[in-house]
Amino acid sequence: MEFMTEISSIQNIIYIISSILFITGIKMLGKEDTAVKGNFLSALAMFIAVSVTLIDVINPMVLLSGIAVGAVIGSAIALRVKMTSIPEMVALFNGFGGAATFLIAWSEFNSIPDSLFQHILIMITIYIGGVTFTGSLIAYGKLSEKISIAKTSIITKVFTTLFYASLVFLIFAIIQPVTPSVEFNFFTILLALTLLGGIGFVLPIGGGDMPVVISLLNSFSGIAAAFAGLLLLNNVLIVAGSLVGASGLILTIIMAKAMNRSINNILFVGYASSSSSTSSEEQGEVSPISVSDAYLILESASSVLIIPGYGMAVAQAQHVVRELGELLEENGTEVKYGIHPVAGRMPGHMNVLLAEANVPYDVLAEPDDVNPTMDVVDVAVVIGANDVVNPSATEEPGSPIYGMPIIEVHNAKTVFVLKRSMSSGFAGVQNPLFFKQNTRMLFGDAKESIGGLVSEFKE
Ligand code: TAP
Repeated sequence: MEFMTEISSIQNIIYIISSILFITGIKMLGKEDTAVKGNFLSALAMFIAVSVTLIDVINPMVLLSGIAVGAVIGSAIALRVKMTSIPEMVALFNGFGGAATFLIAWSEFNSIPDSLFQHILIMITIYIGGVTFTGSLIAYGKLSEKISIAKTSIITKVFTTLFYASLVFLIFAIIQPVTPSVEFNFFTILLALTLLGGIGFVLPIGGGDMPVVISLLNSFSGIAAAFAGLLLLNNVLIVAGSLVGASGLILTIIMAKAMNRSINNILFVGYASSSSSTSSEEQGEVSPISVSDAYLILESASSVLIIPGYGMAVAQAQHVVRELGELLEENGTEVKYGIHPVAGRMPGHMNVLLAEANVPYDVLAEPDDVNPTMDVVDVAVVIGANDVVNPSATEEPGSPIYGMPIIEVHNAKTVFVLKRSMSSGFAGVQNPLFFKQNTRMLFGDAKESIGGLVSEFKE
């Protein structure tokens, strides 16, 4: 008995050390030069915490087998996943975190809760874990463009109703404690409604609001883990869960601010109703340009603003983009990069890609920094960005993205838009920028087009 108490004290001390490592690791993620070490430190902390948990487990083989299976599947997926699919993978990770806590709370329910506090904890953990699980699967489907169901469709309405029903049922389950033996059916309904509710939570949200939902689901997975930690009286789970929950929540608020939307509006009101301008119809003639003509204009430009978007990630064009930036600077041009907070498919997506290509941080600027001086920019080069430079967001009150801050490239003297076709961006709306008089469309894969410009400069 005494021996067990000693083990438990040692475990708790090591859990505290892991928690400190987690916090230090997260802090280090805040600066690009310490980020890699911070990531390593957090992974080490998780390894230590899991290893220490094994000490007093009755059958460590069960845990070890779980870890082995998880490690093999996780590594296989992570090694094969394309850079552009990382956001989908993150969505799935959030979901599996939610599923794990859902199952923990379910198994705790089966061991019959003995206090009201425990009962409430179980119900809330089941709910947040379940909603996170199915909600994240839908988010995965939306991000990978496998699911596209209109907000107004009957399926969406049914699931949204189920979401509200699940909320009501949760409140009922909390104030009406039941034991598994007495109210098995009641509990089964709660489990099912929770999972269906998660689908209804994310299904109506789409387009430009997805970044906020992903951050929120990330936060939910942490909150659910913290609740599971309370249930299991596991300190490290409480700390790690709270860290994920709090940082996810902060990110959600930052994202919502970047989109100029309130969280309530995103979750419960949704987009403005569509007007004709939101369709993917084309709005006039576009003016294409060739690589060699684009080169001539760039060669005589004194200031160039590069605006990368999701297409740069798809094309993996970041290295040639850096090369073009350097050649322009050698030619005496002032070069800056306009980075929109939701460009790409995950927070900081463009920053990560440009950092990988060694683009210095001091040439990256936010929309608020570049918009006021846009009219003196000679050429704005839009590389695979679409929604984040769509003037409908500021000019057309009926547009689904109306109100979202954008990089106002349409105010530059000349705009080059590099993309492969006239297809719309993630939000699915046509972009009037393409039809403006000062815009030239440079059609083709971004890497090839930029590569062509680089070759012209070198010649
Ligand atoms: P998008 O609006 O998605 O537009 C990307 C454009 O890249 C497309 O129009 C596409 O046109 C072009 N493209 C794709 N592959 C290309 C290639 N190989 N070469 C050249 N162009 C290529 O991107 P954005 O402007 O970065 O906006 C991001 C959107 O995603 C926003 O709506 C945002 O809300 C949403 N979102 C963001 C996040 C986060 S956290 N960043 C998460 C979820 C959703 P073509 O097919 O014609 O080439």
